[in-house]
Amino acid sequence: MNTLKIDNLELTYKNGHQAIRNISLEIENGMFGLLGPNGAGKSSLMKTIVGFQKPTSGEILFNDVNIVKNPDDIKKHLGFLPQDFGVYPKVSAYNLLDHIAILKGVKDATERKNQIQHLLEKVNLWGFKNKEVHTFSGGMKQRFGVAQALLGKPKIIIVDEPTAGLDPEERNRFNTLLNDISTEVIVILSTHLVEDVKNLCSKMTIMNKGQILKTGTPKDLISELENKIWSKSIKTGDLESYINNYNVISQQLIERELYITVYSENQPSDFEATTPLLEHVYFYALTQTNRS
Ligand SMILES: Nc1ncnc2c1ncn2[C@@H]1O[C@H](COP(=O)(O)OP(=O)(O)OP(=O)(O)O)[C@@H](O)[C@H]1O
Ligand SMILES: [Mg+2]
Repeated sequence: MNTLKIDNLELTYKNGHQAIRNISLEIENGMFGLLGPNGAGKSSLMKTIVGFQKPTSGEILFNDVNIVKNPDDIKKHLGFLPQDFGVYPKVSAYNLLDHIAILKGVKDATERKNQIQHLLEKVNLWGFKNKEVHTFSGGMKQRFGVAQALLGKPKIIIVDEPTAGLDPEERNRFNTLLNDISTEVIVILSTHLVEDVKNLCSKMTIMNKGQILKTGTPKDLISELENKIWSKSIKTGDLESYINNYNVISQQLIERELYITVYSENQPSDFEATTPLLEHVYFYALTQTNRS
């Protein structure tokens, strides 16, 4: 079992922006979802874990080693798929993986060859091994990104919004791939899509404005909202008054009719009980930040 322990982490950028505010988390093997809207601080947190930037204060321990003080220790065990991979050089998928494997310290040529073939087969790109990566489609690039993250047999894999921009079929294929690898290692997946977390993650955290709002299993977080979620169809013109009088967590147009969902300890009159979903957990958590 691997463990990643984050203790009272703070990160303030040079311009004074506080991107991570007192975050503490404990993550074990399996898929961990980091869910939050644009600007929440997901990439900031991930880049700090992988050692691209130093936190202003706080500790990160990987299997009891302080990786802020000893960044080389985690580099050997880490795979990272950044949100923005940047520009790919004009080399084939195979040669690029070979190059990255050398950088990751896979020195033995036969071992490198075996790993590369195994990974390219795993991500369904073996047939394209001689094609240059910059000519790949978005989905193929993301699968290539997973292959490079898995080189060197990492114990912790961090993927930053990997499904953004993928069509539904590629997204499913990609998610299945992540699911397969997460049994024996830590996989941290950031996303703003509730659905990715719902389908994949055994544990999750909701983040906004640099803070953790909620952490738990999707199931436990959903059951906390049992008998507290209510909905109603309303006239568009009444929306503002509902927002002022209720804790409205979401609004949705269904066949041109406006439905609102509210959080309330007791049933508000004229509202119908609604089975809580992970979406409600997410939107309720977010309304709590926006109010504070
Ligand atoms: N190098 C930097 N210097 C100053 N501020 C930064 C820097 N990088 C990010 N920020 C700010 O920190 C906040 C968090 O950004 P971050 O990229 O971590 O969010 P995110 O959750 O990954 O968002 P997205 O979903 O859009 O990728 C934002 O307000 C952003 O503008
Ligand atoms: Mg980001």
